[in-house]
Amino acid sequence: MATIPYSIMITGANQGVGLGLVKYLLASNPRPHHMIAASRNLGGEGSKELEDLAAKEDCLSVVKLDVTKPDTFAAVVGEIDGIVQEKGLNVLINNAGIYLRKGLEDVTAEDMLLAFSTHAVGALMLTKACLPLLKRAASRLSTKALGWQRAAVINMSSRLGSISDNTSGGSYSYRASKAALNAVTKSLSIDIINDGIIACVIHPGWAKTSMGGPDGLISVDESVQGLMKVFAGLDENSNGGFFRYDDPNNSLSW
Ligand SMILES: NC(=O)c1ccc[n+]([C@@H]2O[C@H](COP(=O)([O-])OP(=O)(O)OC[C@H]3O[C@@H](n4cnc5c(N)ncnc54)[C@H](OP(=O)(O)O)[C@@H]3O)[C@@H](O)[C@H]2O)c1
Repeated sequence: MATIPYSIMITGANQGVGLGLVKYLLASNPRPHHMIAASRNLGGEGSKELEDLAAKEDCLSVVKLDVTKPDTFAAVVGEIDGIVQEKGLNVLINNAGIYLRKGLEDVTAEDMLLAFSTHAVGALMLTKACLPLLKRAASRLSTKALGWQRAAVINMSSRLGSISDNTSGGSYSYRASKAALNAVTKSLSIDIINDGIIACVIHPGWAKTSMGGPDGLISVDESVQGLMKVFAGLDENSNGGFFRYDDPNNSLSW
């Protein structure tokens, strides 16, 4: 694929869709010069596959990052800066997510706050922290068209974050926090476009991951292949959009 960015950072990259993206990009030709894969826990079983890959692949670096801990972001961005240097960071994929399986009877204030902190607050604050690196990449490629090869913030949302598509209720913390992520992304798309950076949200499909469970409709590979097509097709018109993994031309309704 000819449209691979120079550098990409992915949160929640130790399993599921995030790890699938890392593996896909490692197998692509050309591949990114720098891939920074973040995991909140290093050194254990949960991130072993990712860490083993990083030990073999020069272009892959692993950083420790819990997206609910914004006080740690400056240090992590410092690490990323040391990796990408003067070329900056082309793409930030805010992928980390949690799905708390609770309905009206048992959802708690803590559940709501954790989901908001993970999806909306985490993505916004990490994007803010990465902005100098994203701006650096975008300004170095100022003659390039807007798109992920230049600079993009891609936020992994969900169809469950669509208010108009909600016909089954429940999933309070997940739905509300993904809707908030959508709102955050819309504002970002307006605020950073003049810096040459686009922002959008994407639904990766109901994938068979630990979040999606075994009844998921698609494999991680199908999700990732679709996502990559959407990423590669992002342009000026995609800014502020809400896309499905399998249809780059159709936006989901908010
Ligand atoms: N699978 C689906 O059907 C589906 C559908 C719609 C949207 N999505 C979205 O797609 C994204 C990826 O989901 P997935 O299916 O790959 O889920 P997954 O397999 O459960 O992976 C989620 C990832 O997020 C990480 N994470 C959770 N909380 C974090 C935190 N506070 N800081 C850093 N990392 C954290 C997890 O780390 P640990 O391994 O440490 O837990 C894990 O790496 C999520 O945003 C999800 O909401 C998924």
